[in-house]
Amino acid sequence: MYKIAVIPGDGTGPEVIREGLKVLDAVCKKMGIEMEFANFDFGGGRYLKTGEILPEGATSELRKFDAIYLGAIGHPDVKPGILERGILLRLRFELDQYINLRPVKLYPNVYTPIKNKGPEDIDFVVVRENTEGLYTGTGGILKKGTPDEVAIQTSINTRKGVERCLRFAFEYARKRNKAKKLTLCGKTNVLTYAFDLWERAFNEIGEKDYPDIARDYVHVDAMTLYMIECPEKYDVVVTDNMFGDIITDQAAIIQGGLGVAAGGNINPEGVSMFEPIGGTAPAFTGRNEINPLAAIGSAGMMMEMLGEQKAAEAIEKAIMEVTPKMKSMRAAEMGYSTTEVGDMVVREI
Ligand code: IPM
Ligand code: MN
Repeated sequence: MYKIAVIPGDGTGPEVIREGLKVLDAVCKKMGIEMEFANFDFGGGRYLKTGEILPEGATSELRKFDAIYLGAIGHPDVKPGILERGILLRLRFELDQYINLRPVKLYPNVYTPIKNKGPEDIDFVVVRENTEGLYTGTGGILKKGTPDEVAIQTSINTRKGVERCLRFAFEYARKRNKAKKLTLCGKTNVLTYAFDLWERAFNEIGEKDYPDIARDYVHVDAMTLYMIECPEKYDVVVTDNMFGDIITDQAAIIQGGLGVAAGGNINPEGVSMFEPIGGTAPAFTGRNEINPLAAIGSAGMMMEMLGEQKAAEAIEKAIMEVTPKMKSMRAAEMGYSTTEVGDMVVREI
């Protein structure tokens, strides 16, 4: 019996999670898997009502689960940063989910803005470091509001943090068994301390423990260009937290947009949290028009992480049967409602 914590969150989060749960229910029934869900109301709504961002003991409570399934966090009436830092990043950090895994896969008949590229060209995975870099909140502001104001925000890169992320990426490239190639995406020409550490660790670990995996390096600025020009060059890409955040939004658009981009915050030794990479989409909240496929794909990734390979494959296969029937991956343009897309996936399963 798997125990799953569900955090629907804000905006369209609850709508897409509802569909994801429907799909999980169908796949569990079909495959004889038992899964139990517990709901947590963390998010902007709760914060505005109670003033509490994340209740005391929330992370220790969440540690008791096999995985966490999350919709989206963020609220138009709350200053940016409060909920993101106080809930999403706090959970990633405290649960030590040091990998943010973001597959970039163009499904059949999904529109990509890149001319002359198809599903055979767009199929790579970004391994984003998820607990360090610019995201740690290290730094501060001096003399705030004065002409002498100073703002410092430091990128933290530890050998341990970098190494565990690189090892995960090498292992992933091996397990994926496609081009068996790992690309380090960095900025060694400017960030000469941070990416010096990354590059040395990358080459040392690769040479010693992963001679079967080809190594490649790309500067992050060039990556944004190549991702459009020749996405087929990439198999597994590993990068730091900030660069990973940025390049995966661009990657999302070449795979059809945030409506299909799934992701997982992974602690291979602990509790992982699966979430669509798009946000709360306030403009579509409550309209039953948002695309649930990213959330459904994230549920598939959760199954894979739990070791339920067959269930994961069934979910992905079902998604690939449904995308050709949809008019678009964009909210309100799908030709179907959120509920109907969820139902179609369930039917395929
Ligand atoms: C993401 C999001 C988050 C991030 C925000 C909401 C804090 O953009 O998951 O990519 O920057 O990591
Ligand atoms: Mn992002």
